[in-house]
Amino acid sequence: MTDTEIELRYLVALGLAQEAGALAMSYANNRERMATRMKGRQDFLTEADGAVEMMLRSRIARVFPNDGFVGEEGGGDGAENLWIVDPIDGTANFARGEPHWCISIGFLHKMKPVVGVIHAPVLGETFAARQGAGAALNGGPIRVSDTTDIHAAAIEIGWSDRLPFEDYLGLVAKIGGMGASTKRSASGALGLCWVAAGRTDAYLELHINSWDVAAGIVIVEEAGGMFTDVWGGKRMDTRTAIYSNGQAHDCPVASLATHDGDT
Ligand code: IPD
Ligand code: CA
Repeated sequence: MTDTEIELRYLVALGLAQEAGALAMSYANNRERMATRMKGRQDFLTEADGAVEMMLRSRIARVFPNDGFVGEEGGGDGAENLWIVDPIDGTANFARGEPHWCISIGFLHKMKPVVGVIHAPVLGETFAARQGAGAALNGGPIRVSDTTDIHAAAIEIGWSDRLPFEDYLGLVAKIGGMGASTKRSASGALGLCWVAAGRTDAYLELHINSWDVAAGIVIVEEAGGMFTDVWGGKRMDTRTAIYSNGQAHDCPVASLATHDGDT
């Protein structure tokens, strides 16, 4: 795939993120359209999730008919050129009227994320990156933090009901015990953007899905950060993974993860 073909997908993703944001806001601004269902414990689904994903799926199929598409709600198959989309990440926040949610659009070539656009409409923030071209917030360059001191570090630790609560609590206790401040804002995709923008120093989650991170990995890496699963590999999903300013990889955060395998 040429740089031009990647750039084309980047530009399309930027436009689609804005369109998706406007569609999601049309639900957020109308309580009657905000019917919420539960997919599982603490796993919310709104009408907007399905509508935004359908819109993105059909637009991308029209412009790039040979590319594959995977979405959180509708699934999909792998492909050499693959879009991975989370129509609303931070759905619990979205359903409750909190501003911390986003649309996440990632594009992978041969399973390597090369384009990422994450748009948070209520916050008015669009994070974007493509391989080799740096990362930006609303068009201006961003960089990861340069924090090296764990006692000054802020580390977000993601949680879902997919693993026992004790695993999450154990990790928070260990990292807090090392002297870092810990937090959870309930959007994995934005959690990665916070690392990219230097607002936090690392994001760690014991089990995370590809649609939560496909776009964010490019944004973190292009902002000077690092992504690694705790086995030191580059597998993107369902594994314990750390996304950091690079320096935080030197602290023993990754080795503290207790979950030892896929689920
Ligand atoms: C979840 C959020 C959460 C993360 C979970 C995700 P959803 O996605 O990103 O912050 O910790 O792993 O499943 O349900 O809001 O789309
Ligand atoms: Ca998600």
